[in-house]
Amino acid sequence: MSSLKDKIVVITGGNSGIGYATAKSFLAKGAKVLITGRNPAAIQDAVHSLGHPAEGFKADQADLGDAKRLAEYVQGRFGKIDALFINAGVAKLAPFETVTPGLYDELMNVNFKGAFFTIQALLPILNDGGSITLLSALNAYAGSVNATALSASKAALNSLGRTLSRELSGRKIRVNVVNPGIIDTPLLEKVGLPDVFKTHLGNVTPIGRLGKAEDIANMVTFLASDEASFITGAEYNVDGGLMVHPLIA
Ligand SMILES: NC(=O)c1ccc[n+]([C@@H]2O[C@H](COP(=O)([O-])OP(=O)(O)OC[C@H]3O[C@@H](n4cnc5c(N)ncnc54)[C@H](OP(=O)(O)O)[C@@H]3O)[C@@H](O)[C@H]2O)c1
Repeated sequence: MSSLKDKIVVITGGNSGIGYATAKSFLAKGAKVLITGRNPAAIQDAVHSLGHPAEGFKADQADLGDAKRLAEYVQGRFGKIDALFINAGVAKLAPFETVTPGLYDELMNVNFKGAFFTIQALLPILNDGGSITLLSALNAYAGSVNATALSASKAALNSLGRTLSRELSGRKIRVNVVNPGIIDTPLLEKVGLPDVFKTHLGNVTPIGRLGKAEDIANMVTFLASDEASFITGAEYNVDGGLMVHPLIA
């Protein structure tokens, strides 16, 4: 039997792409999943297509009040949770000279500050022995063009994961980070990546294709499971080998 059976999992940003695929994977392993997002209609559609026992809650990760409301709701609904997947994030690219304070704040507020305080809000109701998985990005390490603020907002999560894994070890809470390469989700369209460039990136990835949301979901569900009970403070690149490719790194 899966060690995730009947575990309670919260996934931020679970109505699309990687978060949605991960919710599906947890549900297939018998877990109960609550997803968040900003768009109520998208959450409702996702919960409907994920099926029972998926649930949703509207929470903007950039809104620290929403983080508190989420924690209160989850506590009232489930009492405690077993796993938290910080997946919600935005990706916007701009040449360094054109990054405005507004764009900088948006990226930092959703990707890092919001992630930080969502964890802080949910920590009191995370069971001892539970897990937190943070979704960073390969560009936290690779020098991706036009990604100064985006990459820094993700790199901060890698740092947080290492530090938190030490601070929470007393409660046997494991904290790990996943760094996806280029994953074929609606995000690529949102950053304006043309199809021809997507094909190119798939071709230059050593494994010969873009990642699928399920590739990340497999790693995240593994990290939340008992099979990963000795893994904490770690990070995993799930990138088809892109990090070591000389054209990218
Ligand atoms: N796709 C890639 O190549 C790639 C590579 C590296 C890292 N990542 C990371 O993977 C994560 C998921 O991205 P994806 O590729 O699955 O993209 P996606 O399909 O665009 O999904 C993004 C999800 O995040 C939610 N979200 C965005 N901003 C939010 C906010 N402020 N509060 C709550 N939810 C929010 C969205 O829901 P709403 O719109 O309803 O808010 C949606 O559910 C992101 O953190 C991204 O940085 C993706």
